[in-house]
Amino acid sequence: MADSEQSYLRDVQYRFPDRLKARSILHNRYGRGDWFAWLSSNIPLPLGGVIADVGCGAGSFWANAPQSVPSNLRLRLFDISQGMVDAARASIGAMQRWHDVEVSVADVAALPLADASADTTIAIHMLYHLADPASGLKEMARVTREDGVVAVVLNPAGTMAELSALARAPFGDADPRPEPLSSEQGMVLMRGEFASVDVVRYNDELRVTDPVDLLGYLGSLPIADKPGVMEKLAAAVEDAFRRSDGVFTINKASELLIGRR
Ligand SMILES: C[S@@+](CC[C@H](N)C(=O)[O-])C[C@H]1O[C@@H](n2cnc3c(N)ncnc32)[C@H](O)[C@@H]1O
Repeated sequence: MADSEQSYLRDVQYRFPDRLKARSILHNRYGRGDWFAWLSSNIPLPLGGVIADVGCGAGSFWANAPQSVPSNLRLRLFDISQGMVDAARASIGAMQRWHDVEVSVADVAALPLADASADTTIAIHMLYHLADPASGLKEMARVTREDGVVAVVLNPAGTMAELSALARAPFGDADPRPEPLSSEQGMVLMRGEFASVDVVRYNDELRVTDPVDLLGYLGSLPIADKPGVMEKLAAAVEDAFRRSDGVFTINKASELLIGRR
């Protein structure tokens, strides 16, 4: 990834949690509502274990983990954005549930952890931001115990296609959004690094009824930083709601890839 892309992620897109929050509104308000319960029941989180969460964002996994997740986990959270690290520290600290937590600014390319020091290393919806995701996986494997796991969440190609079509509307035929690394492509990379990789799929359907929530999501994307795009997105959203009788349906899926050596 060019330095400018990395600094765009760090200093604009993920400078503060607001854009991520705008996107999570759509999932939380219209989705199944069990995302964090699903994640925590499928990711091995052993009692007293060291868990590295890479690209932790505002720490939403830990702020929303169900009570069944052991509170004696030793959490090591990392993100390239200082704003995300501050937000994660604030929200996790306020909970008084986790007693051994360190949140630091760090790039997945060079994690400040010793070899084989984590029981489980997770990267939820972040691997697609890396110029060299295979190296990112290698670094996650390095910090993970030989019998530990590396758990990566990515989206299958074509997920939320209805929303992507709206995001393209201001640009005519030209698609300004590069295809993110899909879970299918992530699987190939994981197989290069781990002896076994298990996949668990999460399917959902968002039946969006408030155009403001949809526009909030679209407005949080990098495309909306370009002048004049927001007005075109607003027109596309208005048109989509008119054509869909007030319920805009989005099909989405995510896949959890669990690698073991
Ligand atoms: C889509 S957000 C996901 C956040 C969190 N995992 C979640 O599920 O809410 C991606 C996060 O990865 C972080 N990130 C991007 N590139 C990174 C890198 N090279 N090293 C560490 N974190 C990175 C971003 O700053 C952002 O907070």
